[in-house]
Amino acid sequence: MILLNPGPVTLSEGVRQALVGPDLCHREAEFGELQETIRRGLLAVYGLPPEQWAAVLLSGSGTAAMEAMMTSLIPRQGKVLVVENGVYGERLSAIAKIHNIERQALRYAWGESIDLHDISRHLEADRAITHVALVHHETTTGRLNPIREVGALCRTRGIGLLVDGVSSFGGEELDFASWGISACVATANKCLHGVPGVAFVLVRRDLLLGAKDNPERTLYLDLTRYCREQDARSTPFTQSVQAFYALAQALRELAVQGGWRQRHEHYRLLAHQVRQGLGRLGIRPLLPEQTTSVVLSAFYLPDHVSYAQLHDGLKLRGFVIYAGQGALARNIFRVSIMGAIQAADMDRFLSAMEEILTAQREDSAGRHKTRGASL
Ligand SMILES: Cc1ncc(COP(=O)(O)O)c(C=O)c1O
Repeated sequence: MILLNPGPVTLSEGVRQALVGPDLCHREAEFGELQETIRRGLLAVYGLPPEQWAAVLLSGSGTAAMEAMMTSLIPRQGKVLVVENGVYGERLSAIAKIHNIERQALRYAWGESIDLHDISRHLEADRAITHVALVHHETTTGRLNPIREVGALCRTRGIGLLVDGVSSFGGEELDFASWGISACVATANKCLHGVPGVAFVLVRRDLLLGAKDNPERTLYLDLTRYCREQDARSTPFTQSVQAFYALAQALRELAVQGGWRQRHEHYRLLAHQVRQGLGRLGIRPLLPEQTTSVVLSAFYLPDHVSYAQLHDGLKLRGFVIYAGQGALARNIFRVSIMGAIQAADMDRFLSAMEEILTAQREDSAGRHKTRGASL
């Protein structure tokens, strides 16, 4: 089965084999080594120096890391401007609300582009804002948000920038230092090609130390505590050992394959292949190519074909696509090309699509004819 949903991803054989590594207690030195290898490997993806940056590992999904970032890094006297243009931006706001974090939401329709003037206006009008939080790649629609430009607005005002990079880390450009990123969350099971169960926050160390004076908002998701213990090669809680094995292997494979740049190029070619191929079948993209990530694209459902028909037909042929969320569920489907996927897989996917659409057309033409004959 080829997974074209945005994580979990189709595994390489190496990552699958890593899952059955030796039994290991998380209190043993070997686990400390494994954890340290992963922490270094994550920083190395974007060339971050370990003296200035920490990779903090959590056992949980991406949302756990989002919640850890928001609760650990925004001080009690702080205020966050959350920029929303999809499900995950809205989730950042929901987290702020649950934890009583002072907040202001800047809302756009799902898929709409972010207007930098709006952000400037908010930052000028409300000097209480200490942080801006937003999603890099809004997986709801495939839109890539302008982190670099938002970062420039934050930097000149000394405002922290908290990024959800869950579906972009490892596959898109993220220039932490020059874009002024304070922290970025991601998971093992998207562009890194590991398995679900490990999420992480890459955070500037000086900001974590600042959080020490800030009474914790959460017991389990306190990044400062995780970082302190992980720096000592320990862990506050039981970690997902097998998912760690898989992530260590996935990071090795990423490095051997040429790092994020090479992965980005591989994704770009696959994404283009899918757009071109679906375009030939008359299927239109939701957003123009230059505004989307290389990781995922959303497409309008073809006429007279429901999502369920498309999904089930493709699944029978060995491919899993992904539905739209919320109101978009009626109109779109999504195709993500993360994971161990090659151009030949996408050729087969496009043939499967064509087969389904042809069968559907013949079916509705047949029904039309029968109805005509019985009139
Ligand atoms: C951009 C983004 N943020 C956060 C999440 C939440 O991740 P999880 O489902 O692993 O909690 C997702 C999941 O797809 C995502 O795409």
